[in-house]
Amino acid sequence: LRIVRDFREFERPAGTLGFVPTMGALHEGHLELMRRAKSACDEVAISIFVNPTQFGPNEDFSKYPRTEERDLELAESVGVDFAYLPNVESMYARTTTRIEVDGVSARWEGEFRPGHFTGVATVVGKLFHRVPATDAFFGKKDFQQCAVIRRMVDDLDFPIRLHWIDTYRESDGLAMSSRNRYLSPKDRAISPHLYRILNKCVEMFLRNPEVYPVIAEAVSELSGYGFRVQYLALVDSESLDPLTHYEPGATLIVAAFIGNTRLIDNITV
Ligand code: PAF
Repeated sequence: LRIVRDFREFERPAGTLGFVPTMGALHEGHLELMRRAKSACDEVAISIFVNPTQFGPNEDFSKYPRTEERDLELAESVGVDFAYLPNVESMYARTTTRIEVDGVSARWEGEFRPGHFTGVATVVGKLFHRVPATDAFFGKKDFQQCAVIRRMVDDLDFPIRLHWIDTYRESDGLAMSSRNRYLSPKDRAISPHLYRILNKCVEMFLRNPEVYPVIAEAVSELSGYGFRVQYLALVDSESLDPLTHYEPGATLIVAAFIGNTRLIDNITV
């Protein structure tokens, strides 16, 4: 594993270079992205950068887990070739230019985390310029992030192939996330109900394609377990526009707090 601190050290790859951008605190879900990159590409680069501009003022930037040494060991164990570790100064010293992806960013995460997707799109755009990757790999757990990046790459003509990888889950269904380590044992025990109830909604849609009653019942059940639901919606998988009736290929998206931990998840139906 070669550590790269200055992106000018990257050389144009002769073959394919798969890229997995991360904020570190690596878990099995990230390692799966790296394994998939490794099997699809000649070489693999990851980046580890806790990007300040995608955190809101009351979010967890300062306490976001930083586990760099362990992350590098894990990356090496799955055959990653390059780990790019930029620092905040090099990334943002002169950045007054930002990437705003209209439309698909507006609702859901965009509403509850204003500015989040501008931060994500800007840093991913910069990383795509700095790392000479031919392919990039993202987890579907951040479903709206995938939609935003897809639009950005399309609209701004980034010459990169995008790969969307299925969410990696704990054996009880909880979607893997670096933030799961914030969960208290009690909240951890409740957390799998989120994915269970998403699946239950899908079953209900097959009997009753009308979205509203299904969502109302699911929100009430989640509240009963102690979740504070921010949104639960059936959306068009490309535009993220809400749907009133179930249609195949649509995605059910959810964000909810359990205790102080915010969880997101989704399922394409
Ligand atoms: O999904 C993430 O970890 C981040 O949003 C990303 C894509 C690395 C950008 O900072």
